[in-house]
Amino acid sequence: MPLEKAALFGCAVATGVGAVVNTARVEPGSSVAVFGMGGVGLSAVMGARAAGAHPVIAVDVLGPKLRVAESAGATHAVDATGADPADAVREITDGGADYAFECVGNVDVFAQAYAATRVRGSTVCVGLDHPSRNLTIPCVSMVAEERTVRGSYMGSSVPARDIPRFMRMYDADALPVDLLHTHDIALDDINEAFDRLADGDAVRQIVRFDGG
Ligand SMILES: NC(=O)c1ccc[n+]([C@@H]2O[C@H](COP(=O)([O-])OP(=O)(O)OC[C@H]3O[C@@H](n4cnc5c(N)ncnc54)[C@H](O)[C@@H]3O)[C@@H](O)[C@H]2O)c1
Repeated sequence: MPLEKAALFGCAVATGVGAVVNTARVEPGSSVAVFGMGGVGLSAVMGARAAGAHPVIAVDVLGPKLRVAESAGATHAVDATGADPADAVREITDGGADYAFECVGNVDVFAQAYAATRVRGSTVCVGLDHPSRNLTIPCVSMVAEERTVRGSYMGSSVPARDIPRFMRMYDADALPVDLLHTHDIALDDINEAFDRLADGDAVRQIVRFDGG
């Protein structure tokens, strides 16, 4: 595998696919909502699709990211700039998703992801907000509705086991990882690269030290 592809498996793919298949152990036929369509969330969408989930709902604030999510295997796209995205997920899933993944790094989005799950649903927190920010979980709904909240670090991956495994899934056309690699840049282009990320025009950009 070319190194610029392999690099994607070390963070985005291991974290997003691993959150689905290792941490949550999503079963075929389960419903999944993923909040945040960066490299991590798009990988979670790919993992959910590969795991046989349906529907697979992508949530983001940027239209271009939602279009990439559809190519990654999302069956539905929810624009989080409009109405409450948790309501949209509950409507699509007729009551709430079995699994929701927070892949933004924002405790307020975590609250939306939690609210988007069904009774006995699971919310997996992958994003990292500032260390001073705390998750707020409604106690009664967690207890009386037996909801589960889990953190997932690097997709609960064992690198020696999971990176080759995810590469075999890529070889089997089960993970369309190529769509994460949107640009090659030189280090001097780094500021434009951050602007592209903010605008939603890029997913993962490879810095090439041979000039881009
Ligand atoms: N748990 C881990 O082991 C682990 C590993 C790597 C990264 N992370 C964390 O995962 C998060 C995602 O990483 P990434 O590289 O994919 O980030 P990214 O910045 O590339 O993507 C974030 C996405 O979230 C979207 N977004 C922003 N606000 C939103 C909102 N209110 N609702 C819905 N979507 C929104 C953005 O448009 C963007 O598409 C970060 O917090 C990162 O620190 C965690």
